[in-house]
Amino acid sequence: MTDPAEHPITAEVIARLQSTPDPRMRALMVSLTRHLHAFARETRLTEAEWFDAIRFLTAVGQKCDDTRQEFILLSDVLGLSMVVTDQNNAKPEGCTEPTVFGPFHVENAPRFELGQDVSGGAAGEPCWVSGHIRGPRGEPVPHATIDVWQADAEGFYDVQRPGLGRHQARGVLQADADGGYRFWTIVAEAYPIPTDGPVGRLLEATGRHPWRPAHLHFMISAPGYERLITHVFRRGGEYLDSDAVFGVRPSLVADWVRREPGVAPDGSRRDTPYHTLDFDFTLNPAT
Ligand code: BEZ
Ligand code: FE
Repeated sequence: MTDPAEHPITAEVIARLQSTPDPRMRALMVSLTRHLHAFARETRLTEAEWFDAIRFLTAVGQKCDDTRQEFILLSDVLGLSMVVTDQNNAKPEGCTEPTVFGPFHVENAPRFELGQDVSGGAAGEPCWVSGHIRGPRGEPVPHATIDVWQADAEGFYDVQRPGLGRHQARGVLQADADGGYRFWTIVAEAYPIPTDGPVGRLLEATGRHPWRPAHLHFMISAPGYERLITHVFRRGGEYLDSDAVFGVRPSLVADWVRREPGVAPDGSRRDTPYHTLDFDFTLNPAT
């Protein structure tokens, strides 16, 4: 970037920011000013384009309400959310990688015992999910709290169905003393992020699709370990190489195996096809 001293307006704004009492805020505002001015100069931004951008950001704000956060969605599709996630959650080799949180987590989701079905009647083929939660030396992490959530077979989270009035395809479980966990849910399918707002129009204008590859969200917490927010993706599914929000990490792609009717791993008899996913998580000790 060119020296702001070459540009009197940039230098003047930065000089006035020197009175910002909080040093971190000062650093952020100075850097933002430098980058914004450089962007306008590099692109020779026109007044009409500047006003289009103002209108776009206004529409993003107007689309937000208690359940819809269009600014986070904008950050997600620009890859900013994943840059921030990556640089704040770097884990040592061998630990499970984190990925984007997304807007569809719900605090205080229903609690389930191990082995129960969290689907709540959501549409989709049943899926038995199981595995272990361990530390970096392979030691079991006992009794971790596991929050899971996902979209249904039609690509909607329960919170996107206003008339539903109850939770589906989400829940909170506690791993056993050996770090083992298991539950029934439905198989994850690819789904589009919401496109009925300005972010959808931006994707269209830039020739991008809105799809996320099939995934199941996990948030895992245990005393003495860093909280892990991640997904497990379905190997072989569509959009793994073009996730609309850049969240795929190869280490998070796993085999979801489709099984014929018969006796499932928990001993129950299934009259319809079902899937199994076995995935182990490795947590990073808290420092
Ligand atoms: C999600 O996976 O739930 C999600 C993430 C980012 C934007 C929209 C949805
Ligand atoms: Fe999701």
